[in-house]
Amino acid sequence: TSKPVVVAIDGPAGSGKSSVSRATARALGFDYLDTGASYRALSWDLLDRGIDAAEVDRVIEELERFDFRIGTDPDDYYVRVGSTDVTDAIREPRVTAVVSLVARIPEVRRGLNERFRAIMAGTPKPGIVAEGRDITTVVAPDAPVRILLTASEEARMGRRSKELTSETAAAVGEALRTRDEADSRVVDFMNAADGVTTVDSTELDFDQTVEAVVEVVAQTTRISHGG
Ligand code: CDP
Ligand code: CDP
Repeated sequence: TSKPVVVAIDGPAGSGKSSVSRATARALGFDYLDTGASYRALSWDLLDRGIDAAEVDRVIEELERFDFRIGTDPDDYYVRVGSTDVTDAIREPRVTAVVSLVARIPEVRRGLNERFRAIMAGTPKPGIVAEGRDITTVVAPDAPVRILLTASEEARMGRRSKELTSETAAAVGEALRTRDEADSRVVDFMNAADGVTTVDSTELDFDQTVEAVVEVVAQTTRISHGG
């Protein structure tokens, strides 16, 4: 059997990574891997056990026994820690507030990256769309398709604040900016690395963004198949 085609997608919060990647996977008959969900699930688990992200030794110890499962079928998405379904819980603001602190620990990144690579290699589908912050640069730098999904800060904040009703748009925007700033100090997801195609979704609606990404995949795989 041939190796699965990896489509690597990075970008800042609100650029449309998760929703666009999932729809792209569906359109191509591929699996879908949300790497951010694993950073969130580990953060949820640490909160659940009362472990502070600053207690790095305890975080690493917990990472080693971290029993985490994620659905990679774009039509059957779920996140579980042990026997607990945390699909919704990992989106809570208390998790979002600590995830950057957890994600900046190098041992955490190394440990989760190994799991991501195992999931990508093990997909039964012809390919997998993996999205996050460092998929194009660290997790799968050799992927045949690498995309940086961007959008203006205004567009990204507008999209995010539309999803929430309980917080004001200003508070959401501020939290998003702070998180992107913290994350950018660890990995660069604002600038396209060599060989990475930028898709700017500022002026595109959701369907147009999916179309643009599918088109990049089609073009790139055509080129790499030499025809
Ligand atoms: O969907 P959203 O943009 O809110 O974030 P996410 O993709 O769920 O990622 C949550 C957090 O995980 C980010 O803020 C980063 O701190 C971290 N992350 C990371 O460090 N590297 C990745 N490849 C993916 C996520
Ligand atoms: O994962 P990330 O934080 O990058 O973004 P997301 O959660 O997939 O997308 C945030 C919101 O933007 C979703 O509600 C998408 O449907 C929406 N979106 C949009 O309105 N226009 C686009 N061109 C792309 C996404």
